[in-house]
Amino acid sequence: MTNSNHNHVMIKSSVLLLLLSFLVAAASSGNFNQDFQITWGDGRATVLDGGRLLTLSLDKSSGSGFRSVNQYLFAKIDMQLKLVPGNSAGTVTTYYLSSEGPTHDEIDFEFLGNLSGDPYILHTNIYAQGKGNREQQFYLWFDPTKDFHTYSILWNPQTIIFSVDGTPIREFKNMESRGIPFPKSQAMRLYGSLWDAEDWATRGGLVKTDWTKAPFTASFRNFNAQACVSSASSSSSSCNSGGSSDQSWLKQSLDSTGQARIKWVQKNYMIYNYCTDTKRFPQGLPPECSL
Ligand SMILES: *[C@@H]1O[C@H](CO)[C@@H](O)[C@H](O)[C@H]1NC(C)=O
Repeated sequence: MTNSNHNHVMIKSSVLLLLLSFLVAAASSGNFNQDFQITWGDGRATVLDGGRLLTLSLDKSSGSGFRSVNQYLFAKIDMQLKLVPGNSAGTVTTYYLSSEGPTHDEIDFEFLGNLSGDPYILHTNIYAQGKGNREQQFYLWFDPTKDFHTYSILWNPQTIIFSVDGTPIREFKNMESRGIPFPKSQAMRLYGSLWDAEDWATRGGLVKTDWTKAPFTASFRNFNAQACVSSASSSSSSCNSGGSSDQSWLKQSLDSTGQARIKWVQKNYMIYNYCTDTKRFPQGLPPECSL
């Protein structure tokens, strides 16, 4: 092979490599090896199946957890979870967005375990500028330990919507114009964890964890984010991640079908709503509750 021919082949293959790595990047939205770091649990969190599946486990000495590499300033995130089966009393599986610091923002899904056959509680909360106390709790209309189900958070400048298998269960609108803080200027990471909270999780702490059933395991898969990824080095944020340039989620809100679905869920499955807990707020319900 002549020298020039050789160079030509080299150039061709590096173009191919560049193209390949671009394709890999575009298709990597669901890879736990690339998109997440295991942050605690000393080997109890495991990435399997080439990065497509992540399992967390909990035993008497520790739980485990992970967090996203990227920080997001607005996102539409889907994750499939399969919760701890059997007697999961005392265990809590979490999946949430959070920023850092004392005035942090947070958008929470937490799953409170139960005795075999008794229902899990899906617990949700929203913190804005360090203040939470906005709990809503639900039963689910299926057994969340039998199969994977999709839990989604839509967070854009106008609204936060929690959904389960595409059914919206809760909305927190941006009511800043009425003086209610809304998370919109602090970037958040996505976190997941499995830990023990037998003091309060199941029937308010009456049912304790049965450690003879340990280790407990919860599984996460099919992570997908359409998001504005904020870069640590600058204050800029780019919304082209997820291999898709479709940014309609940034403007998305609940249509009338979605509103009807939320009503259905809240009527049939909601078991706690801070907005109706007058005992807890003797000085008056939080202002957003009357809007
Ligand atoms: C567990 O089951 C009991 C009895 O059905 C129920 O009252 C409770 O809400 C369930 N969930 C949790 C997490 O305690």
